[in-house]
Amino acid sequence: MAGFDLITIGAATIDAFVWSKAFRLVKSRAFSTGVGECLSLGSKIEIDKFVLGTGGGGTNSAATFANLGFKTACLTAVGDDLFGQGVLGDLKTRRVASVLVQRIPGGQTAFSTILVVPSGERTILVSRGVAEHLSEKMLPRRFSAKWIYMTSLGGNLKFGRKIFSQAKKSGTSIFWNPGAKDLVLGAGRLKPFLKQVEVLDMNREEAMKLTGRPLGDLAGMLRDLDKIGSRLVLLTDGEKGAYLSEGGQLWRAHTHRHIKVVNKTGAGDAFGSGFLAGLIKYRDRTRALQLGVLNSESVIQKIGAKTGLLTNWPSKNKLAGVKVTAVAKS
Ligand SMILES: Nc1ncnc2c1ncn2[C@@H]1O[C@H](COP(=O)(O)OP(=O)(O)OP(=O)(O)O)[C@@H](O)[C@H]1O
Ligand SMILES: [Mg+2]
Repeated sequence: MAGFDLITIGAATIDAFVWSKAFRLVKSRAFSTGVGECLSLGSKIEIDKFVLGTGGGGTNSAATFANLGFKTACLTAVGDDLFGQGVLGDLKTRRVASVLVQRIPGGQTAFSTILVVPSGERTILVSRGVAEHLSEKMLPRRFSAKWIYMTSLGGNLKFGRKIFSQAKKSGTSIFWNPGAKDLVLGAGRLKPFLKQVEVLDMNREEAMKLTGRPLGDLAGMLRDLDKIGSRLVLLTDGEKGAYLSEGGQLWRAHTHRHIKVVNKTGAGDAFGSGFLAGLIKYRDRTRALQLGVLNSESVIQKIGAKTGLLTNWPSKNKLAGVKVTAVAKS
């Protein structure tokens, strides 16, 4: 296999965004959130607009790296169905290598339907399909890449073990944004992996799951994460920006105020992949954070997990417009 700058590992999905004024909010205890997004039973509903695109952490992150000129492959699974063809076609257009994409005979490609109400709130229907069953059998014998950008392993420790041992043998660095099923395994079982991770990336809820701290105890979470042994720890906090911790030092990247959020899908993937692209290119923590912020702010201003991702390296001025401050640790 030819050498890559990066191999991304994670889900590949087809996302269908659907808008209709006919989607009504109905308060009822029958729904876990207390409000249902409802339709009249038995009727035919006109939709106002729909948008189809690809999603999933594996392909979203690969799109950023390829956009910025890195030689990129995506390791993921699709079914031998129409949506699988759609994912493969999209990767090709984006110049992401698909040699590591498995087409599972008889399998279904992951599929999300996002039902958007006029206020912008949405309900997501998810079919995880074969993307949920990535396994060690899909790994090449050796990684021929400088970096692995990994999202959810679906809690498959055997898969994880093989990725980490092969990465060690081939001198490949690992970026990891673990998924919910990985995090429920607990810090104890994940520690052997996390010690080998160059960049660990989690949002606030994920950090809460891993550390067992309350959602409000950011300082405590960062303290716990420091001890886990990954070289760099990224903790993203939605519109409040993100933190980067390295040993004794802590930085905060601020988002721009007044960003008009059109659709948040893909924010986390855009931030993580933007950060890593910046770290590789600039070898500078501040500029990496700035690129993460710009890439994620850009994607949330468009519909779809990949629409809006940066397609060029931003100017020095643009980067410098993102405020990064050193934070005293509490
Ligand atoms: N409302 C917002 N305004 C500006 N930037 C945002 C907003 N929401 C997210 N971001 C940017 O995206 C980054 C990642 O967002 P977040 O912490 O919500 O991750 P996430 O929960 O993994 O996202 P996702 O919805 O993709 O799963 C943030 O650190 C921030 O830079
Ligand atoms: Mg996320």
